[in-house]
Amino acid sequence: MTQNDKYDMILSRASVRRFKAALTAEETEALLRAAMSAPTAMDFQPWHFVVVNDNATKEQMRTFLPYAKMINENCTGIVVCGDIDLYKAVSERDGEDNTLYWVEDCSAASENLLLAAHALGLGAVWTGIYPLESRISKLRATLALPQNIVPLNLILAGHPLVPGRAKDKFDATKIHYEKF
Ligand SMILES: Cc1cc2nc3c(=O)[nH]c(=O)nc-3n(C[C@H](O)[C@H](O)[C@H](O)COP(=O)(O)O)c2cc1C
Repeated sequence: MTQNDKYDMILSRASVRRFKAALTAEETEALLRAAMSAPTAMDFQPWHFVVVNDNATKEQMRTFLPYAKMINENCTGIVVCGDIDLYKAVSERDGEDNTLYWVEDCSAASENLLLAAHALGLGAVWTGIYPLESRISKLRATLALPQNIVPLNLILAGHPLVPGRAKDKFDATKIHYEKF
């Protein structure tokens, strides 16, 4: 793979919402390995991942996640979560609030996961959970998450039924040199 091919892999990623088969255990581990290679503040790696293949759990999720209703037996759910306790001690030590770094860390992990899925010929879509309290609390109950573990999103991943269609989102007017 050339440098250009690697770059094109980023540009050609697109959300996939329809699947023909869920991830195998090996594929799941490959995606999570990519997720966990993301950068994190102070290298804290505050993430946890809940892999959902159980159909009853997916059915339950469909009742309170209006924009993730496409979750079904043909895909795997991966809930990317952050441990909100990890940055508390540092925040107290430094006298500044670092506690939301977990959101950025887990977002970086999520994007890595989406890109890895695309690179492996799989497909994935990020569906939103955090910061919507009603989704967080229902997902917390469904997955038995401890209080310090907050779900950021639910990623659906699997073998695409229809390939995603990448958009060209480049916009030169969003770029500012030296000052805004
Ligand atoms: C924070 C966030 C929340 C999202 N929530 C949803 C969602 O609930 N359901 C969904 O189908 N897609 C969701 N998406 C995917 C976006 O709709 C998608 O990334 C966007 O339309 C751009 O399309 P692309 O990913 O194909 O480039 C979300 C993406 C992000 C980053």
